[in-house]
Amino acid sequence: MKLGLVILLLTLLPLPSVQATTPLDVLHWWTSPGEHRAAEVLRQDLLQHSVIWQDHAVPGGGGDSAMAVLKAQVIAGSPPDVAQIIGPNIGEWANLGYLQPLDEWTANWPDDWHRTLDELTRFNGERVAVPISIHRINWMWLNPQVYQELGLSLPTSWSQIMRDAETLRDAGITPLAHGGQPWQVATLFETLLLSVGGPEFYRDYFVYRTPEALADSRVEEALHLLRDLKTLMDDEMQNREWQEASRMVIEGEAAMQIMGDWVKGEFVAHSMEAGQDFLCMPVPGTAQHHLYSVDTFVFFQREDDETRAAQARFAEGIMDSNTQRLFSLQKGTIPARADLSLAGFDDCAQTSAHVFREAEATGLLAPSMAHSMATTPGVESALFHVLHRFFRDDDIPVTTAREQMARVLGALRDHE
Ligand code: BGC
Repeated sequence: MKLGLVILLLTLLPLPSVQATTPLDVLHWWTSPGEHRAAEVLRQDLLQHSVIWQDHAVPGGGGDSAMAVLKAQVIAGSPPDVAQIIGPNIGEWANLGYLQPLDEWTANWPDDWHRTLDELTRFNGERVAVPISIHRINWMWLNPQVYQELGLSLPTSWSQIMRDAETLRDAGITPLAHGGQPWQVATLFETLLLSVGGPEFYRDYFVYRTPEALADSRVEEALHLLRDLKTLMDDEMQNREWQEASRMVIEGEAAMQIMGDWVKGEFVAHSMEAGQDFLCMPVPGTAQHHLYSVDTFVFFQREDDETRAAQARFAEGIMDSNTQRLFSLQKGTIPARADLSLAGFDDCAQTSAHVFREAEATGLLAPSMAHSMATTPGVESALFHVLHRFFRDDDIPVTTAREQMARVLGALRDHE
């Protein structure tokens, strides 16, 4: 049975009657068709934990708009009950004293955690966030029919991708579907940096920000590659949403998209099957690497016991093994829980899980800068700005962009 159908049937099952309970206001940014379905899986599953999810979805891939809305709500004195906050940003909110510590709610949670997720969800040793699933970002999503019909072999190198472009264009197909929004440009750039430099260099650059890495010529190489790839995109791409780029691949208007595996959620929402209707291939040179982002929820502190009890049930529901599996199947991810079997997941997910474990064991996971895993929100947005300007304006020399990014990252290091 097709996965889409399984999910649909599950969401149609009669639900247990929910006792009168305090609804929870949930802020998140899952608004594309695939993301929306995945959020719906969560909402339905949480009903079984007597949680009423009051949806506050803020459109905008990558979550920048959602985080701006969150700040405005907090300043106005009305933070949501639950928010999707990810990466070191969790620590910043916890440090300001806004987040509910979770340790008293975690008695039934498994002990076996991925080390990276365990660290991401703690602040000063105490658990303050609950993880739902793990994304892998260094993927290419391809329409296999396009390649077959044009007699092209599947691309495994940048030179091949550049060479194939002419054949694709002649056939009226956009070689690379993309949206020129700042976060999408940054997502592509970090993937290219990983491809060019590998995970050790990637970490030296974005995480440790060593003076050598900031001055390294591999950054310029990645910037050149970004510019080369821009020539494979169509003229309409500047303000395009990522899910619109996915739609172009789905409909065969474009050959591929380079983006995190939330794209798979779009394919799944169209009842398409991995390996058959679409392909996932690692970005050239990154087959053994895992550029990750982890989705997590936090709870804003509440005085009243009923809301706190509902928040505790929400956290419990997110850690439920069935919920984590169903959500990931729709979202394109692998479950956050380390103790779950991936039976029934496709090859893209199996590969992601395998590479994640291996890379974590050798200390070579690459935390996404564009998806808030590697730096602070301030540095992230300054880097987005530099990269976006560089991407839009072909007259900016690569050395200038490299130096501007080095200044941003170096300033952060100097504050530590
Ligand atoms: C989130 C994903 C989301 C993607 C696009 C990422 O930052 O981790 O859950 O699907 O942005 O909106």
